[in-house]
Amino acid sequence: MCSIIGCLHSDSNLDASITLIESMRKMEYRGYDSVGIATLNDNQILLKKGVGRVSVVNQKLSLNDLNGEIGIGHTRWATHGGVTELNAHPHLSAEDKIAVVHNGIIENHLDLKNDLKSHGIIFKSETDTEVIPNLLLSILNKKNEIKSAVIKTVSKLTGQYSFIAMLKNKSLIGVKNHEPLILGLGPDGYVLSSDILGFSKNVNDVIYLDDEQFVIVNSNGYSIYDFKGNPINLTSTKLTKTFETWDKGHYDHFTIKEIHEQTSTILQSGIHSLNEFNTFFNILKNSKRIYITGSGTSYNSALVAKYLFPKIAGMNIEPILSSEMNFFENCFDEHSTLIAISQSGESADVLNAVAFAKERNSRILSIVNTTTSSLVKSSDSFIGLNCGYEVGVAATKSFTSQITILYRLLEKFNPTQKTTSQLNLVVDAISKILNDQKPVIDICNKLKDVDHLYILGRGAHYPIAKEGALKIKELTYIHAEGIAAGELKHGPLALIDNSTYVIMINPKDDSSIYADNISNASEIKSRGAKIIGISNEYDQIYDYWIPLPDVPKIFYPLIEIVPFQLIAYHLSIERGNDPDYPRNLAKSVTVK
Ligand code: AGP
Repeated sequence: MCSIIGCLHSDSNLDASITLIESMRKMEYRGYDSVGIATLNDNQILLKKGVGRVSVVNQKLSLNDLNGEIGIGHTRWATHGGVTELNAHPHLSAEDKIAVVHNGIIENHLDLKNDLKSHGIIFKSETDTEVIPNLLLSILNKKNEIKSAVIKTVSKLTGQYSFIAMLKNKSLIGVKNHEPLILGLGPDGYVLSSDILGFSKNVNDVIYLDDEQFVIVNSNGYSIYDFKGNPINLTSTKLTKTFETWDKGHYDHFTIKEIHEQTSTILQSGIHSLNEFNTFFNILKNSKRIYITGSGTSYNSALVAKYLFPKIAGMNIEPILSSEMNFFENCFDEHSTLIAISQSGESADVLNAVAFAKERNSRILSIVNTTTSSLVKSSDSFIGLNCGYEVGVAATKSFTSQITILYRLLEKFNPTQKTTSQLNLVVDAISKILNDQKPVIDICNKLKDVDHLYILGRGAHYPIAKEGALKIKELTYIHAEGIAAGELKHGPLALIDNSTYVIMINPKDDSSIYADNISNASEIKSRGAKIIGISNEYDQIYDYWIPLPDVPKIFYPLIEIVPFQLIAYHLSIERGNDPDYPRNLAKSVTVK
């Protein structure tokens, strides 16, 4: 789960390293534990790599000093081998003849490694990647023809991967096998990248390689083949990316900027997909069974759907974690529909879940932010979140956009729902929360040294409790658990003592839920714990209160997540963490 970039400039006075560093900075969301660059200069492969973010390693090693118009770069999220300089990419073949950057996993790397070792190849890293340049070189030494050597190489690799190899004859080979790889074309030459974000302003057109395809790029042009060696003619499309949105504005971090953006992104969600809402409606109402899937935050959105669909549309929808999809074989056939929710549209678990349902002839609808993503390509129809790039690893604005799209969709089933006309009330409420962060900051002071936090919610507030806990875990590294409030007495109550803080989501949207929660709060207080109430109404049972503005009852889930996003952000700063780039994580999880 990394980013890979390759660059071949048509002008030998242009250094690839400059282009690569710019791309790598923007692609760090895919992994940011180490970085590296290799260029080709005077028939020598030059290589620099190190542990840390691009800016840190660049400052230490001056990556931009590497000369040469051709080069490859990488930002890593470790899968095989620790976070060390030796394991950072690029990796070189024997005799330093080929350099490779790789994203994904080579499942049979141990067998390949043993075989190559038996032929005298010495491995320097613990990675699965290092087998690729060595295998390619050993085959190339025998075949001496690049295209057939690539075909033979990929026939020996198993797993989901993409890689770029740089050869001493000044060519780049880009291989795509169930991990993204895009070829960018522009006046300065060619750029290969995991994501369109990796392209700078001088890439005008892009070609999306399909799975089991590779491209050979050199100064004469490029040729694309499938893994059987058939030439492939793919048409290019204009790159429509806007480059301006990529900055923090006056904010200290992308995460807090994105939390604030929710006052506009909620209103914009899905507005470019008005026809697709009708398509979704028609497909769903003719489906016998409806499932909804996602990972992490996007799965929490799917869980919100489980509560909203029966209530508003009178129909059931069954959430399935994308990573668990394989266990539900009998659910999918031509009568079922799967809705996939994803910010990136590139999560491997989500793509695999979709492939699983597709193979069984189910229809695929997706709710996705990146409209150029693999998920969109696999879907029968999609609705775009339209919330702009989300850079912070913790999903914030994409979550509220996903939930808003669910509300907008439900309005099709039940026009009395009146989502569209009431969203202004929602964003006004969020503005109020954002404009007075003092209650949240006061709480963060109390919470900064706790080891555990429990968050309770019932009904549609339960997924928000889970999402709140996920935000706190990711950004603060405090153990946080979202619990359905009624479940507390069935076990978790054993964890409660006088050092515990419990956050209770308790807007007054349903009097029986409200009263049940207050009873739970009382049971918790009797065990000495402190209660933090998140509600539009104060109750004396709360030791601390984060007030929620009033909104139409059904919309509370949309606003009550915001205090959690703020708690997670402020606590992360308080604890000395980088909220945009939490440890061990990556924005887009492109491995199984
Ligand atoms: C959320 O804060 C996380 N970064 C993570 O759980 C994320 O939601 C998950 O990996 C799914 O990503 P996707 O929406 O891009 O598919």
